[in-house]
Amino acid sequence: MSYTHNQSSPKEGLWSMRRLPDMDEAQFHQWQTLLEHRTGITVTAGRRSFLETNLGIRMREIGCGSYQAYYEKIVSGPDAVREWATLVDRLTVQETRFFRDPDAFRLVADYVLTRPREQFRKRALEAWSVGCSTGEEPYTLAMVLNQCMAQLGVQPLYGVTGSDISQPAIEKARLGQFNARKLQGMDDDLKSRYFRPSERNTVEIVNSIRDRVCFTRLNVLDLDDAPMHGMNIIFCQNLLIYFRRWRRREIVKRLAERLAPGGLLVLGQGELTDWQPPGLQRVPSEHVLAWIKRQSDEE
Ligand SMILES: C[S@@+](CC[C@H](N)C(=O)[O-])C[C@H]1O[C@@H](n2cnc3c(N)ncnc32)[C@H](O)[C@@H]1O
Repeated sequence: MSYTHNQSSPKEGLWSMRRLPDMDEAQFHQWQTLLEHRTGITVTAGRRSFLETNLGIRMREIGCGSYQAYYEKIVSGPDAVREWATLVDRLTVQETRFFRDPDAFRLVADYVLTRPREQFRKRALEAWSVGCSTGEEPYTLAMVLNQCMAQLGVQPLYGVTGSDISQPAIEKARLGQFNARKLQGMDDDLKSRYFRPSERNTVEIVNSIRDRVCFTRLNVLDLDDAPMHGMNIIFCQNLLIYFRRWRRREIVKRLAERLAPGGLLVLGQGELTDWQPPGLQRVPSEHVLAWIKRQSDEE
């Protein structure tokens, strides 16, 4: 039995002991379809309780007593857009870490360090973290690019964009403040170079890195509307795993279109199998799934 914050029947008082009814098959299917249609995320039968729990928490917060009523609120209620934005934040897995996949960041560094230096003098190097969650991945990319440019002895001319469907995640990312625990295991030199202590147990990304990273809300299903073009590095990890195979391929094709010739696309290990994206050349690596976009005369 759980407490329900019940705004719809004030006579019962603010808190009632009402338990949410179980979700039946038809309702589960309805929510599955809505989520997949709007976000690409497939909720398997194994994740049904995750869906029920998180819908339930939100329904209690707003005093909504049935899955059907909440569904209608989400698809056609007067506050549907705002409520959907809140819900999507609750239903997405936002786990992330600085330097989460060290092999992938090493590959990015090798890629940058082996580019002709002149390239960095002419034009800023542009990187994009797709499905960036609360910002650890794009900030890591910025630190890696900064380190590489220092090593190459060139001015730090680069920009990183982080995009995610979740507005609260994007807002947190923009703040650039993290619990100090998030730095556990990170190299001491990187910690002292790129973070400074902030209030209580938090640390802040230093301005020289923060100023190079921008964030935007973007649903990866709407890539056609995205203004990013000519990217040198696109990093997309732990997002496509929630999508069907055909959709992963579609998204990878769209991302490849946004790469500059010679640009690098990095996915998570195992996120795309048995398929070679057209126009891309696989980077030989045992531990990282990555491709380089062919120059147009190399088809
Ligand atoms: C598990 S996190 C991965 C974070 C980071 N890329 C990493 O590997 O550490 C997945 C992120 O994808 C985002 N996401 C889920 N569906 C999305 C969509 N349709 N468009 C954009 N972002 C989405 C979630 O909000 C979440 O922040």
